[in-house]
Amino acid sequence: MSTSLRVFSDYKKSGNPLAMISLYDAPSAAICCDQNVDALLVGDSMGNVILGFDNTVPVTIDAMVHHTGAVLRGARSSSRPEVPVVADMPLGGGLHPDSFSWALRLMQTGAAAIKMEGASEKLLKNIRIFSDAGIPVMGHLGYTPQSALRFKSVVQGRTPEDADRLLAQSLALQEAGCFAIVLETVVMEVAAQITEQLEIPTIGIGSGANCSGQVLVWNDLIGLSDVSLRMVKEFGNAREVLQNAAAGYVDEVHKSTFPTEENGWKK
Ligand code: KIV
Repeated sequence: MSTSLRVFSDYKKSGNPLAMISLYDAPSAAICCDQNVDALLVGDSMGNVILGFDNTVPVTIDAMVHHTGAVLRGARSSSRPEVPVVADMPLGGGLHPDSFSWALRLMQTGAAAIKMEGASEKLLKNIRIFSDAGIPVMGHLGYTPQSALRFKSVVQGRTPEDADRLLAQSLALQEAGCFAIVLETVVMEVAAQITEQLEIPTIGIGSGANCSGQVLVWNDLIGLSDVSLRMVKEFGNAREVLQNAAAGYVDEVHKSTFPTEENGWKK
């Protein structure tokens, strides 16, 4: 495992929670690194969050490579260039015939690891192959947006059978070689139980405070998303800041108060 990924196991050992953020561009990555984020994720949530799609399905490997590069350049330009960047594999990630070359492209772009959703037999086999080839894999269980159509409910682990399934899948991902697992909207008690039973860290989103760490989507936490989700806390009001800036610019151009002499050059 690369040195930068040790932050995950170090946090698990310490018992303190790790803070991870899912984002897609260089300036945001630099801001988060400068503000002490522990790890970054380039999530395929970019499909609905910044690319204007309804879901993550249309996100391609080319888009993932493009945005992973941007996030890496932002992180490297910050005061903490060592912050690890994990890149999502797009839909079909671990199962597509080209998945090994997709993973290689993300790693060659500079990602410290890749993330894949689910725990099917075929995926577990591929995780073993990737791990043996030196490609660290982060798992993702609970609500997995790439298979959203299969779920009756966003919240996972409500019945004893579902809780047992999640625990068994978590153990299988650990056994296959995952270095950490995202647990998305898993009932809090179940996420806590999984975290306790695993040697590797769990990174929760909407899964309670007893996971080894937390991950949130940048646009959600800065207050720039349309939807308000129970699992999100808005730590800022970026929408208002951006609205004021856009309105101010349009207004000043319309009133001819911008640009002034100071915004241009004389001969
Ligand atoms: O795509 C994403 O941003 C994610 C996180 C929400 C875990 O998978």
